[in-house]
Amino acid sequence: MFESLQAPAADPIFAVNACFRADMSPRKLDLCVGVYRDDHGSTPVMRAVRDAENVLAHRSGSKAYLGLSGNDTFNTAISGLVLGDLAAVDNLTTIQTIAGTGALRILFELVHLANPGSTVWLSDPAYANHAPVARAAGLSVARYEYLNDSGQADPDLVACQLRNARRGDVMLLQASGHNPSGADMTMDLWRSLAEVVSETGAVPLVDAAYLGLGDSLETDAAGLRYMACHAETMMIAVSCSKTFGLYRDRTGAAMVLGPRPATIRPALQQIARSLYSMPPDHGATIVAEIMGSADLFQSWEEELAAMRQRIRTNRESLALALQEVTQTDHYDRIQQHKGMFSMLPLTPAQMLQLRTDHSIYGTDDGRVNIAGIRTNEIHRIAESIHQVTRL
Ligand SMILES: Cc1ncc(COP(=O)(O)O)c(C=O)c1O
Repeated sequence: MFESLQAPAADPIFAVNACFRADMSPRKLDLCVGVYRDDHGSTPVMRAVRDAENVLAHRSGSKAYLGLSGNDTFNTAISGLVLGDLAAVDNLTTIQTIAGTGALRILFELVHLANPGSTVWLSDPAYANHAPVARAAGLSVARYEYLNDSGQADPDLVACQLRNARRGDVMLLQASGHNPSGADMTMDLWRSLAEVVSETGAVPLVDAAYLGLGDSLETDAAGLRYMACHAETMMIAVSCSKTFGLYRDRTGAAMVLGPRPATIRPALQQIARSLYSMPPDHGATIVAEIMGSADLFQSWEEELAAMRQRIRTNRESLALALQEVTQTDHYDRIQQHKGMFSMLPLTPAQMLQLRTDHSIYGTDDGRVNIAGIRTNEIHRIAESIHQVTRL
């Protein structure tokens, strides 16, 4: 049966991770894996999540099946968090999914069902799993160059390339904390892309995986909300992995805004049924509990703000340390970037050397997890970057 099966190529992130695990140096630093870490190097369960779990542990409940859309209280709560005032939103369909990846897959499947010839336009660089998930749903992929020479989203370049999208194509955009670059779209770029959407008939799919880890929940969602007010049809893939720290509880949502909700919901449910039937409940119930309690919500918002502030401080300190050791402003982009990641302007060979000579692990494209750095490591990281780039 499986004689002709070929092992797939290793995912670049998992491959670097394997090298990290094999490295015996006590000084090794993992800046590769995309999780938030505190200054002790751990990824804590958020206080509000723990408190919500306590409440749930004492409530008599049931583990009987929910419907194919998952937890509807969660669906309403997460829709409000992402879109703001739901009273102003028409024609919204939301279903709970297996985290952000599940939302992406289900939405790509929906596109394939409606328009099998659709092409998904991905930023270059893009989140490493965007193309595999789109292709697994049978869609083809095209790329638009995203960054200028200073490592920021280039508005003219992005809008100009996306004008080549055709009616029914998908324009994949990231709401905030662009993975891998950290370079977010400005509001001006969101506005021009709303025009490109209406000129071309392409449909925006906004991947919202880092809300609240950039500037604020409201600011991080502003571009997405602008698009929601202007696009006739739009899709959103939401991940609660980072924003609620629920990584392994696999919590997320797929949303579709636009005409024909009476067809969209059963279509989404049918796709979910054929893939996994119903999503896991635990994470969604926790989010619903947090969003439904003023105290838990406040505790969650405060902790999220503290996480965001730690990332900002790391950005400022690393950019400053690099200014000092290199005597250039070459790395100032790190301070302007948002969310967990930045891409260092290093070659794959220099990133390899960072790993082999300094036990500092980022991916070949230069991506490092700024949210994974401890304060006392900043100077060593800056020195090591300087050493591998001045040879
Ligand atoms: C941009 C982006 N989208 C989606 C995801 C998927 O997240 P998850 O499936 O863990 O919720 C990630 C995870 O790193 C991501 O960076």
